[in-house]
Amino acid sequence: MTTQELKKLDREHIIYNWKAQGNIDPIVMDHAQGIYMWDTEGKRYIDFSAGLLNVNIGHGNQYVLDAMKKQMEKLCYVGTGFSTEPKAVLGRMISEITPGDLDYVFFTNGGAEAVENAIKAARSFTGRHKIYARWRSYHGATAGAITLSGDPRRWAAEPGIPGVVHYFGPYPYHCPFGSKTEEESGERALEVLNTQIMLDGPETIAAIFLEPITGTNGIIIPSKSFVQGVRRLCDDYGILMIADETMSGWGRSGKWFCMEHFDVIPDMITTAKGITSGYVQLGAMIWNRKVWDYFQNHPFAGGLTYGGHALACATAIANIEVYKQDRLIENSANLGTYLEKKLLELKERHNSVGDIRCKGLWACIELTADRENRAPLAGFSDSIRNVSAEISRRLYEKGLYTFSKWDFIFIAPPLCITADEIGEAIGCIDYALEYTDTFAK
Ligand SMILES: Cc1ncc(COP(=O)(O)O)c(C=O)c1O
Repeated sequence: MTTQELKKLDREHIIYNWKAQGNIDPIVMDHAQGIYMWDTEGKRYIDFSAGLLNVNIGHGNQYVLDAMKKQMEKLCYVGTGFSTEPKAVLGRMISEITPGDLDYVFFTNGGAEAVENAIKAARSFTGRHKIYARWRSYHGATAGAITLSGDPRRWAAEPGIPGVVHYFGPYPYHCPFGSKTEEESGERALEVLNTQIMLDGPETIAAIFLEPITGTNGIIIPSKSFVQGVRRLCDDYGILMIADETMSGWGRSGKWFCMEHFDVIPDMITTAKGITSGYVQLGAMIWNRKVWDYFQNHPFAGGLTYGGHALACATAIANIEVYKQDRLIENSANLGTYLEKKLLELKERHNSVGDIRCKGLWACIELTADRENRAPLAGFSDSIRNVSAEISRRLYEKGLYTFSKWDFIFIAPPLCITADEIGEAIGCIDYALEYTDTFAK
């Protein structure tokens, strides 16, 4: 079929995420390898978003494809009540990677389902009903996960599930408590959270969720003392700390799991994305020992037809082996430093760049209309103007795909990228920023 025929077919039948369906005009992708994707016209794009921040090992990895083929010919799926070698071995591999005693795994199809199950487990474990989640967060699109999400994607799903309470985390660049440094922003956010918990009744709170580093709301990096302070509050009040590492896990931040940066071990982790690098769907809810012990004689009220899918688990095993063989976690940490340097150079050249936030191969350019007072350029939910459509158009023109929304341009390439390839991609962003500069002082 020609590209035009495929586009027509697509627009006659396919519903896209989060958008009014009328004006969608997708590029038709044909194949991908490593950090590159090619459309049906043969144009090459650098995938600077690793798909949706999940294709961490890169596209078309032969080692993973071979493992998948082998598993497919042996066993794709059996009922969830059976054990299989891929499921059991993957459980052990995850327990070896996760910090502390986070050794017990429930497999899901993705991040949102992991969050749903963590909500249920936390309520059952504590006998409490309130779930705390941060403003400026995203936890998935299912009923509970979207209620937890502190961003506009929640609005259409309101009123959502009962018992969810939002709290402010630190955001040094636009601190809701007027502080200017990361440390101060963390201290004030912690103080307010402590007061909020006191007023709300600590004995009514089952869990505090957090993305260790906020993902799609702007790669907001909290201070170590904030994350450690949340851990202390949880310990003091018998609340479970749940880290949503759907996006931040699997080397994205330069560590296997992002919580390692803060020297904090949560009670549960929810994860997905980089667990299989998107070769097939898989997510996981991971418990620590005390939660596991509780459920030895209390039923866990969760189940999914595709939980622990043999093909998905075998894919994850091969994917984790690639992280190790190709030293991708180390590459993320090392090249993250180089990426940050290149982004700071962009900041010097472009007035519309307000802030650069970077941890491993995971970064965000925050745009501003005025560096002096940090005035937003597009504004929260594009309340001032939409610039991301033109940013994306310019990047596509130059052969780069990266996710951009509101005041944010996100950067999260496959972890197998090289310094030269980062340099090439930064050149494309340089061109897009010439456009945003026209709105900045
Ligand atoms: C932190 C976080 N949690 C949960 C999710 C939802 O994951 P999924 O789309 O696999 O359900 C996402 C997706 O972007 C995420 O970033």
